[in-house]
Amino acid sequence: MQQKTALITGANRGLGLEAARLFLENGYRVVFAGRSLGALEEARRQLDPEGTRTSTLELNMTSPGLIRSVPGQLEAAGIQLDVLVNNAGVFPRDGDPVDGLRHALETNVTGAVALTLALSSHLLNAPEPRVVMVSSGLGSFGLCAGEGAPLSESNYLAYQTSKAALNMATVCLAKQFAGTRLVITAISPGWCRTEMGGAEAPRSAREGAEVIYDAATLPAGSPGGTFIGEDGPLPW
Ligand SMILES: NC(=O)c1ccc[n+]([C@@H]2O[C@H](COP(=O)([O-])OP(=O)(O)OC[C@H]3O[C@@H](n4cnc5c(N)ncnc54)[C@H](OP(=O)(O)O)[C@@H]3O)[C@@H](O)[C@H]2O)c1
Repeated sequence: MQQKTALITGANRGLGLEAARLFLENGYRVVFAGRSLGALEEARRQLDPEGTRTSTLELNMTSPGLIRSVPGQLEAAGIQLDVLVNNAGVFPRDGDPVDGLRHALETNVTGAVALTLALSSHLLNAPEPRVVMVSSGLGSFGLCAGEGAPLSESNYLAYQTSKAALNMATVCLAKQFAGTRLVITAISPGWCRTEMGGAEAPRSAREGAEVIYDAATLPAGSPGGTFIGEDGPLPW
């Protein structure tokens, strides 16, 4: 079987880095994408000291120009992607709430959608293309809204609104690509120990990355537009 390639945004640390490790362990090539080439280079050297199965790509999720340039850069480098993991994300907590919302929507939603659309024709050249939207249970109405909901006490306006929007974007994109081989899935990694999740989170970054990997390797014929967590399907 031909070696597959995954592009992971925000691969320099946290869940992105652990996902990169998992893909490499499973024989994939990995494109480390992110906004600091220095940090990406350091991360990839840690996992692939020879540099034979990894490459780096400068990508800021808030830069439409950089996003548009990705397919051309990959093709110029002779790289065919099988998997796109939209992992990069922000969790604005301080400062003006409207500025935070704008920042979260631009990075977590618009950036992920723009990259998916920019890469869709490229991905459709792969035999079993997959897109993973790294969302969150904090974006689920079923888990967060209404008295007695398991996460009803969470109230992070910018982050939760952005992840709810990312979930609906996943539903819409999955409808757009229904009938093709491209399977687009939203996942929640669970609360994990990363810079964003904090040290008190119950799950390791590795456990979170496993949810990403599972969605990226769904078998042929799997439905798109599902929302999956550590224990299976989640309510939208
Ligand atoms: N940790 C959790 O408990 C948890 C739970 C649910 C969902 N998630 C989701 O999982 C994903 C990864 O989170 P994490 O916990 O690994 O967070 P993290 O440690 O804070 O890492 C965030 C990553 O996103 C990158 N990033 C942020 N803004 C970017 C931009 N404009 N362009 C490119 N890259 C950007 C960061 O790059 P820099 O290093 O350059 O800042 C970093 O690589 C996020 O989408 C998050 O919402 C996390």
